[in-house]
Amino acid sequence: MCGIIGYIGKDKALPRILNGLKFLEYRGYDSAGIAYVVNNKVEIKKEIGRISSLEKEINYDTETYMGIGHTRWATHGEPFKINSHPHQVGKFTVVHNGIIENYAKLKNKLENMNITFKSDTDTEVIPALLNYYYSKEKDILKTIKKTINDLEGSYALGIICDDDYENIYAVRFGSPLIIAKDKNGNFIASDVPAILAYTNKYILLNELEIAKVSKNNIEVYNKDLELVSYVEKIFEGSQESALLNGYDHYMLKEINEEDKVFLDTFNYYVQNGKFKNTMPDFKKYKNIHIVACGSAYYVGIIASSIIEELCNIPVYVEVASEYRYKKVFYDKDTLVIIISQSGETADSLAALRKSCADNIDTLAIVNVVASSIAREAKYVLYVKAGPEIAVATTKAFLAQITLLILLAIKLAKKDALLKEFIGLEKLIKKLLNQDYKDVALSIYKNSNVFFIGRGIDYGICLEGSLKLKETSYINSVAFQAGELKHGSISLIEVGTPVIGICTKKDMSKKTISNIKEVKSRGAYVIYITNDTVVDKFYDKLIILPDAHEIVMPILSVIPLQLIAYEVAKLRGCDIDKPRNLAKSVTVE
Ligand code: F6R
Repeated sequence: MCGIIGYIGKDKALPRILNGLKFLEYRGYDSAGIAYVVNNKVEIKKEIGRISSLEKEINYDTETYMGIGHTRWATHGEPFKINSHPHQVGKFTVVHNGIIENYAKLKNKLENMNITFKSDTDTEVIPALLNYYYSKEKDILKTIKKTINDLEGSYALGIICDDDYENIYAVRFGSPLIIAKDKNGNFIASDVPAILAYTNKYILLNELEIAKVSKNNIEVYNKDLELVSYVEKIFEGSQESALLNGYDHYMLKEINEEDKVFLDTFNYYVQNGKFKNTMPDFKKYKNIHIVACGSAYYVGIIASSIIEELCNIPVYVEVASEYRYKKVFYDKDTLVIIISQSGETADSLAALRKSCADNIDTLAIVNVVASSIAREAKYVLYVKAGPEIAVATTKAFLAQITLLILLAIKLAKKDALLKEFIGLEKLIKKLLNQDYKDVALSIYKNSNVFFIGRGIDYGICLEGSLKLKETSYINSVAFQAGELKHGSISLIEVGTPVIGICTKKDMSKKTISNIKEVKSRGAYVIYITNDTVVDKFYDKLIILPDAHEIVMPILSVIPLQLIAYEVAKLRGCDIDKPRNLAKSVTVE
């Protein structure tokens, strides 16, 4: 987790670094810190909490033209100032995103050489090692090479050495890092939005490459310290896409982009009712494993029902943190699909690497272009969701569902179903324009909410329940509608909200019976369906636009996302940055 940035150039560094950090805050916000060179020495400032707290301690007019910054999601060591980055040992000051898995062993070794440590972090061994090797090598590049040889785990590093205030050094392994070019200087950053206010030109640093970045030059070295060439990329999206654009929260903005996200994803793979060659043929695979975490895992659950039904092949779905360690049964016809918005989730990446190591073909379904998962999988299909800033995923979920339904249709060779997507963006818009405040008002004071549904609707329930609990901190559980009565129904009290979903019309009688079971025990029922409802067994009814069953999950998730948003707002929660979370989970 964590976000890092660095700037060196002709312009004052602090406004650039602080502005960049604000765009990286989605990666963690336990504490923030900055190191900059002023009067020929490194100054460090750190604050607990948000970038805004650090900002109060900063004088933007400081005559500094070089610095590195960090926003932290605590892993090793509590979110105290002492554990905040940058960390400094001797001549080296470092910001780090990732985890050093062998830090205890390294720390022990360094302590035996009388090197002392101030923090509880894994990171501090990095400047300690740099300082130690530099005392022998007297060469910064060789020192970095020796240091990273000792590190196990993941890292993106920004490094300042007291003997060279003309350059910032950067290196990465397993954590993302870009180098960006501005007309007056250069940046390093964890992600593109951090630099978009100044430039859209950037370079992707490959694993184990070391960058030496001065105010008017960028040099990239391979692991043998040979200079290598690099490709300059242009970020196509506008910075506006990374800004709030008049919305109160990124979550609301991103939900409201779903009609466009749907169209962008659909049109990227389909044209005039036919698949384009952007969608490869995966028909040689006879069984599929889908592996992911959190909401992306729920996409997998929904996709597995659709693929099994449509393609008649078995699909095994597993959360990545389990998959990576368990015995799995593949054969030569297995395709492992990894779904990940960020493309950097540590467990999903490890699951991918496990499959690659076993010579099993892999397909990544990813939003962030050129992320680790996208680069390491055999095949990659991108969803076209654009930058997602809110920690709780919404538009990327909808884009992933869209793409996996398309994939199922392609696999099943049922291209005639593509016509069912035509005009869907209008139905999405219709749902986005509905008001869910009334439903939210009936939920927000409760401490338990249940979601029930069958089959694909159960997958959507899982997502609705996660959205509600992570943004509003209300305890919530999703159940297969028929399963609740096998124990958990004892939790239903008078007034307990139960959200029932049914988009599979041939199942509606069964789901409605389950809803009646909770209604007769006093539950407050919110029913969401595209079916005709004749009986009044609900307290609130949300009618979904009627569309073909195959595209219904694209529609049915929208009210649940907006209900979660409205409930979180009523409860005064920190909607875009819920407590204890971070956008990309790059730790196990
Ligand atoms: C929930 C949420 C998480 C992510 C999960 C996987 O709103 O965003 O559950 O879905 O952490 O992240 P990615 O998709 O980046 O691998």
